[in-house]
Amino acid sequence: MYLQKRNRILRSCASIRSLVAETTLTSNDFIVPLFIDEGENVKTEIASMPGYYRNSLDVTIREVKELWSMGLKSVLLFVKAKDETKDNTGKEAWNKNGLMQRSIKAIKDSLPEMLVMTDVALDPYSSYGHDGIVKDGEILNDETVEALVKMSISHAEAGADFVAPSDMMDGRIGAIRKGLEENNFTKVGIMSYSAKYASCFYGPFRDALDSAPGFGDKKTYQMNYANRIEAIKEAQQDVEEGADIVMVKPALAYLDIIREVKNSVHVPVSAYNISGEYAMIKAAAKMGWIDENKAILETLTAIKRAGADLIATYFAKDAVGLLNK
Ligand code: PBG
Repeated sequence: MYLQKRNRILRSCASIRSLVAETTLTSNDFIVPLFIDEGENVKTEIASMPGYYRNSLDVTIREVKELWSMGLKSVLLFVKAKDETKDNTGKEAWNKNGLMQRSIKAIKDSLPEMLVMTDVALDPYSSYGHDGIVKDGEILNDETVEALVKMSISHAEAGADFVAPSDMMDGRIGAIRKGLEENNFTKVGIMSYSAKYASCFYGPFRDALDSAPGFGDKKTYQMNYANRIEAIKEAQQDVEEGADIVMVKPALAYLDIIREVKNSVHVPVSAYNISGEYAMIKAAAKMGWIDENKAILETLTAIKRAGADLIATYFAKDAVGLLNK
């Protein structure tokens, strides 16, 4: 048989496959989400996220040092607020001595080079489990944005490098940027969850922080998963308002959105490989139905191939371990 082109030549052995690989993962690609709890020496496995833990601050500091030694350079902090601090204003979110503020400071004090990013949304502090202030069953936009600005400034004061608003209120990026500027936090970045969809795959995360909405759902602020153009609009608007990095979330069912956003903005794009995506791989692997390590690398490579410059993932440590093998 005469063939002018034999495409298999470039697949014929591991060496040539590596040479022509279009996408490669490195430890620089990952943001590590961390769940932080009150107490000392506390390490609680999250039931729906086997192998992932909510740690007290002392344990977190040890973890952060280990992450750094592995080449991981950024963490994204989430805290579990005590029930008695929750209300409908979210005021614990900007408490100078709150768990988040203490955590930011402690991590930056012990490892100044580690980039500390913080989740900005009211849900862990809300007695309703919503990302905003509630009135007559509605999530108020403008009042919530004011609260998010206070929260962001308080994270900046504690030493955060990036704030990451995950709430999907309108106008919050511009308001946060203005708030940071007015308070002279000119070095603090904003990673906006720009295209955040109302997704069932957040379930395990809400277990981790006990932050499930007490009534209704999040569909009046998070996006409808049927939509694509809306994601581009959100991302472009956030860039105009001052976002340094825009995010698409979740990642796996939204690879097309990651690519579309990547092609339409000129800032780095991140994707959040979320809790439900983690849980699915863990569950199938536990059943012996898929090879966990291979699934991790294939998944993360696909997210990067789709256009993500950065990936927030609970698999960051596993991935770096596998890449160094
Ligand atoms: C809260 C927030 C959520 C996640 C990150 N920030 C949950 C939600 O919006 O209900 C989800 C992360 C994950 O599932 O891994 N604003």
